[in-house]
Amino acid sequence: MKDVLTAPFMVEMIRTATNMYAHGWDERNGGNISLMLEENEVREYLDPEKALRIIPTGFAAPELEGKYFLVTGTGKYFKNMQYAPEVNLGIVRLKDRGQQADLLWGYADGGQFTSEFPAHMMSHAARLGVNPENRVVMHCHPANLLAMTYVHDLDEKQFARTLWQMCTECIVVFPEGVNVLPWMLCGTNEIGEATAEKMKTARLVVWSQHGIYGAGKDLDETFGLIETAEKAAEIYMKIAHLPRVNTITDDQMHLLEKRFGVKAREGWLD
Ligand code: 13P
Ligand code: ZN
Repeated sequence: MKDVLTAPFMVEMIRTATNMYAHGWDERNGGNISLMLEENEVREYLDPEKALRIIPTGFAAPELEGKYFLVTGTGKYFKNMQYAPEVNLGIVRLKDRGQQADLLWGYADGGQFTSEFPAHMMSHAARLGVNPENRVVMHCHPANLLAMTYVHDLDEKQFARTLWQMCTECIVVFPEGVNVLPWMLCGTNEIGEATAEKMKTARLVVWSQHGIYGAGKDLDETFGLIETAEKAAEIYMKIAHLPRVNTITDDQMHLLEKRFGVKAREGWLD
């Protein structure tokens, strides 16, 4: 059996969390990540029959029964992930229609997965329905996206259009736009269900006055999605109080669609 700390998925997860912390997106224990693993990659490092303990999830997700996830721990600091991965991360396999998880590795101080596990798992189920290649759900608290939810209309078409207008490549990176949830109590099944519903039509879901969720096929793609939206929000927060003299027009957005072979969310461009 190989050392799980040398697994490419582990190395990439730790690098990503460290980078997210460096970007200022994950103060204290803010943010969480879940990465779906293939059984054959897990078997190189762990015996899936040897559960350390069983953790109840508090919800059902039958689509995910038998699936493996590398997940950040609740209350854990992204800042510390690289120094103590076995304490800050865990590998679990869902069972019993997703109502319980076998802990196969990690949470070594007796901890457990993120309090946002419902939003993560329900979002995985929703995104797998759209794209079977989806592997990652990522949540964090980037300052400019968060700030924008205090001063911008939360209508998701208006919110997404503003982001598209802030950097030329936004419409290319997230042509489906972003979806927006109003403030809701975090860590609950309710916000999990609402997030998953929004994930059916976009890979980015803003949690007003809290942060953002991203989904994608790998850690790089998902990080890049959030990075691009956050850059756009940063431009918005720099200019929102100034007279707008220029913008990217809808005609120019259509040129971008053609040039990059993408299609903006139906009805969101004139
Ligand atoms: P956890 O420490 O439980 O992952 O929670 C952090 C967070 O961002 C809650 O939304
Ligand atoms: Zn959060």
